[in-house]
Amino acid sequence: MRGLLITIDGPAGAGKTTVSRRVAEQLGYRYVDTGALYRTVALTARAAGIEPDDDAGLAGVCDGLAIEVVRTAGGTRFLANGDDVADRLRTPEITRMASAVSARPAVRRHLLAVQRELGREKNAVFEGRDMGTVVFPEADRKFFLEADLDARARRRHAELAADPNETLETVREAIRRRDEDDSTRALAPLKPAPDAIRIDTTDLDIDGVVSAILAHC
Ligand code: DC
Repeated sequence: MRGLLITIDGPAGAGKTTVSRRVAEQLGYRYVDTGALYRTVALTARAAGIEPDDDAGLAGVCDGLAIEVVRTAGGTRFLANGDDVADRLRTPEITRMASAVSARPAVRRHLLAVQRELGREKNAVFEGRDMGTVVFPEADRKFFLEADLDARARRRHAELAADPNETLETVREAIRRRDEDDSTRALAPLKPAPDAIRIDTTDLDIDGVVSAILAHC
């Protein structure tokens, strides 16, 4: 199977990352985690002492941020000004800050260009919030994964099991609030594209979701 650009959007904990990576593997495509781009901007802004609502500061952060793309067996990773920051992107603080900076025009404008450039070759699975609506409205296949909040909280909590500070309840509340913020922001809010294939993953395992997607490709 050659030549498709596939987008997979949806809220936190719907299974996007695992599913996107597996679909890309099966098709021999690149997997691009666009949330990591927003997280990289958040990390760089925090290091520079820039608040998430400081548009001029964020524009400066973006201008000074050289994002390089490195292809690994697990997907596409990003170097921020030469540093592999992947291990620092998943803390609760950076997760919250990524959502906050992702609402700001300077950040979205900057990353739109980065993502479109990455999509020029097709043969890729792009995972995010606005892949099918804004970044790649012409994508060949669009999917929107959803699942009820409890199922998503349980999955995320299981991933964070090593952290004793994270209870199921705090994880659930963090996901609920972040999805609300991501869905209600003015710019490129989280929502299914009108032509997206919607898959409810609440009662499906990973294999079930991957097969459903591959059947459409
Ligand atoms: O997928 P993730 O949890 O790594 O994304 C982190 C944040 O980045 C998410 O809360 C909203 C933002 N984001 C976005 O606005 N648009 C995307 N395409 C991907 C992520």
